[in-house]
Amino acid sequence: MSRIVYVNGEYLPEEEARISIFDRGFIFGDGIYEVSAVLGGKLVDCDAHLARLERSCGEIRLDLPWSRAELIAIHEELIKRNAIDEGGIYLQVSRGAADRDFAFPKDVAPTLVMFSQARNLSEAPAAKTGIKVVSCPDLRWARRDIKSVNLLGPVLAKQFAAESGAQEAWLVEDGVVTEGASSTAWIVKGKTLISRPLSNKVLPGITRKAVLAFLAETGFTFEERTFTLDEALDAEEAFITSANSFVMPVVSIDGHTIHNGAPGPTAIRLREIYIDFARKGGVLG
Ligand code: PDD
Repeated sequence: MSRIVYVNGEYLPEEEARISIFDRGFIFGDGIYEVSAVLGGKLVDCDAHLARLERSCGEIRLDLPWSRAELIAIHEELIKRNAIDEGGIYLQVSRGAADRDFAFPKDVAPTLVMFSQARNLSEAPAAKTGIKVVSCPDLRWARRDIKSVNLLGPVLAKQFAAESGAQEAWLVEDGVVTEGASSTAWIVKGKTLISRPLSNKVLPGITRKAVLAFLAETGFTFEERTFTLDEALDAEEAFITSANSFVMPVVSIDGHTIHNGAPGPTAIRLREIYIDFARKGGVLG
């Protein structure tokens, strides 16, 4: 069935939606995106996603003409028009359409495209079995903290994962795991969760932030540090977090079995707590 999507102020059937061939998102990857989850017809942690959108746009000097309230209203309209119960809303803003020239064009309005994707998130079959991960070199640029639409590195990594029978790729640089191709990477040792510090090398995950906010109620502690691939292979548990996967157990890395090949109790517990939080709209205090 055809979706209703949003393009530059209009809600249209997806077949009728158009952007210019000169759009700088298309020509240069000169744009920013966000993905917010929808659960029970409600946006999850959307404010935090829009705060990150504003930050990413600021970092590339793209002035956003829409307020947070206007963007939330478009999200909600897409949920309504497409009757989305579970899934996500994709938002992409580019620097607009202008004849091809690298430097910023003058007096050009940004392009805003948004669409919904219906998806089973809370009962995703992968959460029952856990996912397989393969490692590959991190080929991305130096500003991974910006959620840029330049995604060729992650595209190649995900394709490698798919061809290897895995569902996610863990990107490795200088011997340490930076993050998943489209997720934050975590390992577990005893009662300690380990994930690397935020920097220009990784995207500051909104799901990561929410998980850290729960730690007090789980009895786990957090060690914010890098970890090597060898350490991950030896970990008691591993998992990923993202808006699409929430908390997803990892049961194999490069063919090495993690936690006997079954989702571990830590990932299962954190997933339950996260889904509870998400059902309430995911608003952190
Ligand atoms: N990806 N790291 C990278 C490189 C990502 O692309 C993502 C999200 C994350 C997790 O961020 P969050 O918890 O805010 O979703 C970490 C989205 C879902 C995507 O590209 O589809």
